[in-house]
Amino acid sequence: HLNPQMEEGAPALRPAACRAKGGAPGFKVAILGAAGGIGQPLSLLMKMNPLVSVLHLYDVVNTPGVTADVSHMDTSTVVRGFLGAQQLDAALTGMDLVIIPAGLPRKPGMTRDDLFNKNAGIVRTLCEGVARCCPNAIVNLISNPVNSTVPIAAEVFKKAGTYNPQRLLGVTTLDVVRANTFVAEVLGVDPRDVSVPVVGGHAGVTILPLLSQVTPPSSFTQEEIKYLTNRIQNGGTEVVEAKAGAGSATLSMAFAASKFGDACLRAMRGEAGIVECSYVASEVTELPFFATKVRLGRSGAEEILPLGPLNDFERAGLEAAKKELNESIQKGIAFMNR
Ligand code: NAI
Repeated sequence: HLNPQMEEGAPALRPAACRAKGGAPGFKVAILGAAGGIGQPLSLLMKMNPLVSVLHLYDVVNTPGVTADVSHMDTSTVVRGFLGAQQLDAALTGMDLVIIPAGLPRKPGMTRDDLFNKNAGIVRTLCEGVARCCPNAIVNLISNPVNSTVPIAAEVFKKAGTYNPQRLLGVTTLDVVRANTFVAEVLGVDPRDVSVPVVGGHAGVTILPLLSQVTPPSSFTQEEIKYLTNRIQNGGTEVVEAKAGAGSATLSMAFAASKFGDACLRAMRGEAGIVECSYVASEVTELPFFATKVRLGRSGAEEILPLGPLNDFERAGLEAAKKELNESIQKGIAFMNR
């Protein structure tokens, strides 16, 4: 029942001249982990994206239901479902963009690193599939701990001989989305008018909001800076505790992943000047991976932008972030080379 339109007894579909209005070329997008807390609302949001012509939903459980459900939305995107490891290759073949929210989420009291043992193996398996079936796809990696799973994915692609650092993007958009929201609250303005660069990584002190570089230019008291930095760094934990065992951020994360995926697709189509924060291979610091603003283009992260001027508070934060980040990166690389 994965693809109801192909059921036995169903009439043959008439060839569609072009399902998308205006004949705009659409992209093929796969979501791996599509039946999960993030995967389901993300599937809904990508089905609503006019740049997506084909949407493949893959998971090891429950994709038939999610696929049937989402496929009834009357948007032009064609949805197909794939269930279990034996269908991974079919899910990935021909994809332009692969979004990966597969893996365990945190429960209260857990750090993102506590997820390493389970999620490292899941990310490795899925990225091996990407290397086999769509080595030129752009990958948006959401599975935690992102600080380690991106280095793992890079090692997988290196081993397969398909590694292009521009195409591997760790998704840190939720940190930016939270930062924009919390800063807008303090300033009393519309969050859509606020842009906060968040650099470093995606866990605790590695999440480094650069409040000195907020647009529109704004000044904050010491008290506000402390409050905002702490709330942005612990936004994920705020949700984990409020959900009290029922998981971590899913709805705001799906929103963030959809925002980031849409930015990638618009850049792939040739739109100029698209800049987003992302955790990527980088030479901005001495670490091999780091999140900063990146300029997105047809081939992914085409330009890694510099950190810009930091104040004393941010410089101290950067040192703390780098120390933890380095350990997480080394842990990811070691996992692949043991
Ligand atoms: P969830 O448990 O609700 O969903 C995860 C899904 O992954 C499940 O449907 C599960 O069946 C699937 N899955 C497990 N193994 C798989 C495999 N080998 N292949 C394909 N699918 C597989 O978890 P949720 O809340 O959706 O979170 C997913 C991940 O995203 C977690 O690791 C979480 O920590 C991370 N996350 C990342 C954020 C970020 O900012 N980058 C923010 C929030 C969560």
